[in-house]
Amino acid sequence: MEETAAHAAALEGVLDRAFGPGRFAKTSERVRERGAAHRLNLSRVALFEGAAVGVCRMSDISVGGRSALFLGPLAVDPPHQHARLGGRLVAAALEAVKGEGKPVLVVGAASFFQPFGFARIPDGRVAMPGPVDPSRFLWLSQTHGGLEGLGGMVGPALAA
Ligand SMILES: CC(C)(COP(=O)(O)OP(=O)(O)OC[C@H]1O[C@@H](n2cnc3c(N)ncnc32)[C@H](O)[C@@H]1OP(=O)(O)O)[C@@H](O)C(=O)NCCC(=O)NCCS
Repeated sequence: MEETAAHAAALEGVLDRAFGPGRFAKTSERVRERGAAHRLNLSRVALFEGAAVGVCRMSDISVGGRSALFLGPLAVDPPHQHARLGGRLVAAALEAVKGEGKPVLVVGAASFFQPFGFARIPDGRVAMPGPVDPSRFLWLSQTHGGLEGLGGMVGPALAA
């Protein structure tokens, strides 16, 4: 279901448990700190017995001055992992962003994200505000030719 502010506290626990102590050390966190705008209406949560146990968030960002979306964090509470919730959350969030028509970027396992259409970003094309393993830096076009000419620094969401 759509994420709301009411899920925030439960999801903090999920994110802490899923990522562990390295949670805030990730370069993706630097993107979020530097002005990525969390879009609750495009983010999806999984509930178990009424409690939030998983999340796939989407944020508005820019890439070289063009609008894009950043997928993450994606996390499922460890006791609920390996039950296809993570895959279902990604599918639901991608369905939610379809109307946006913007490229979606993610830092994650290629083997997990490739089935959703994500592909490796050509080396050096997009710069992140911190180190990132190029084999885990992926993007997805939402429109025909949507990745053409796209490149540069990942930055804050552009003003609407
Ligand atoms: C990644 C995560 C969200 C997957 O959630 P999930 O509900 O277990 O996902 P699914 O059941 O849909 O898919 C699981 C499959 O994804 C793949 N997968 C999961 N994590 C993976 C990883 N880090 N690297 C490569 N493949 C991975 C495996 O093939 C796994 O299969 P298995 O269940 O047979 O082991 C969950 O493991 C998690 O919260 N991990 C910690 C946080 C994290 O690394 N988030 C991703 C950052 S983009």
